[in-house]
Amino acid sequence: MTVEVESRGPSSTQLSALASTINAAVSLYSSTNDPYERDTALRNIELASKQLSQCSVEPRRYLMGFHFQPHQVLSVRLAIEMGIFDNLPTSSPFTVNDLVKSNGTDPEFTGRVIRALAAVGIFEELHEGTFKQTQVSREWANKNMQSYTKHAWDNIFVCMSKYMEFFKERGFVSPSDPMNSPYAFAKGVKDIDFFNILSQDPKSVKIFNEAMTSIKDPLGSMYDFGTIQARDDDVALVDIGGGKGQSIQSIRSTYPKLKGKFVLQDLPDVILAGDRVCPPDVIAQSYDFLKQVQPVKAPAYSRYPGAATYLLKSILHDWPDAECRTILRNLAPAMRGYHSKLLIVELVLSDSNPDTSKVLYDINMLFCAGKERSVKQWHALLEGTGFRIQRIFGIDNPVRSVMEVVLDE
Ligand SMILES: C[S@@+](CC[C@H](N)C(=O)[O-])C[C@H]1O[C@@H](n2cnc3c(N)ncnc32)[C@H](O)[C@@H]1O
Repeated sequence: MTVEVESRGPSSTQLSALASTINAAVSLYSSTNDPYERDTALRNIELASKQLSQCSVEPRRYLMGFHFQPHQVLSVRLAIEMGIFDNLPTSSPFTVNDLVKSNGTDPEFTGRVIRALAAVGIFEELHEGTFKQTQVSREWANKNMQSYTKHAWDNIFVCMSKYMEFFKERGFVSPSDPMNSPYAFAKGVKDIDFFNILSQDPKSVKIFNEAMTSIKDPLGSMYDFGTIQARDDDVALVDIGGGKGQSIQSIRSTYPKLKGKFVLQDLPDVILAGDRVCPPDVIAQSYDFLKQVQPVKAPAYSRYPGAATYLLKSILHDWPDAECRTILRNLAPAMRGYHSKLLIVELVLSDSNPDTSKVLYDINMLFCAGKERSVKQWHALLEGTGFRIQRIFGIDNPVRSVMEVVLDE
């Protein structure tokens, strides 16, 4: 009698194929100076090494680890609150005792948190009790990055524990009422959107806006803003829902010679906070894009066809389709009839096999009844609004793309 032995683990062919993909990407990375090719090579290394590590782990063990992903964020969140990232030597080693001395924290608990951070690769453990920073841990020395983690944990993760109750009560469908989102449900409030809930607590508004500033999209290299041809007195760009002015700051630093005025619009509490990161000549204006028609009109001449660009960056993903159309309807009269354009900067998911991080972002957006959209969904959203996507720049970007949108007359 022959006993069939169940073959375990990935096949050698599968492992070799992934290893070859990684090797080929490493060779490309080392042999080219082309930034696009280098980015692609790094991206291929990232994807193939993820697959390699996933298939190298026994499935049951993989699943057990899978459930402990939030614990990584919790460990970082604790470390931030304990001030651990604030006084670390940039490159020389440190011990748990050094941290306890500088932060006055409990030695045993500090040791547990540091051990966890080292185990997941955020610190490097050199030898027992002695650690070193990595390029990842250094990012958390930045207050805005700390705020991003605070937002991710305090606003999103904490509320996620109530999502099952929300969906059991409301049905397993995409939330379509931003006034009664999973976030509002978790907070026990009704008929108020995420941003207005935040605005009741200035500390939360500050943390959220700092978190948004930590997202460093290189806008200036994602789109040719040099095509904006405004005269000194014209409005060159209106950043609608622009937070602390991070997008204008990024554009102006890449294109210092751009002429014309820059307008930053956001809710009153964001504008009145005044802690902006953009140049002081930027005009800051309180504006509610759901309730008011866009007050800044494109200039009424066509000699400079690029003048007056409206920017909606990471805005439409916060809202369900109906509210997005309201935002666009409120913008149209300012643009109609003039040579202006709208730039929508958002994640754009491929229609098939979209990037993992973009898909998880979409699940993340459930909190406020928002969503990340695929190419088809973006086109469908704009249908019947008078707006039309003319071009999409950087669709393969692992981060946001720029959609150049025009208003058909
Ligand atoms: C996700 S943040 C994006 C901020 C910025 N555009 C960026 O990309 O970093 C959304 C922004 O929309 C603003 N916002 C939310 N509701 C608004 C409204 N009804 N009118 C104007 N701005 C609003 C928020 O205050 C926040 O600054």
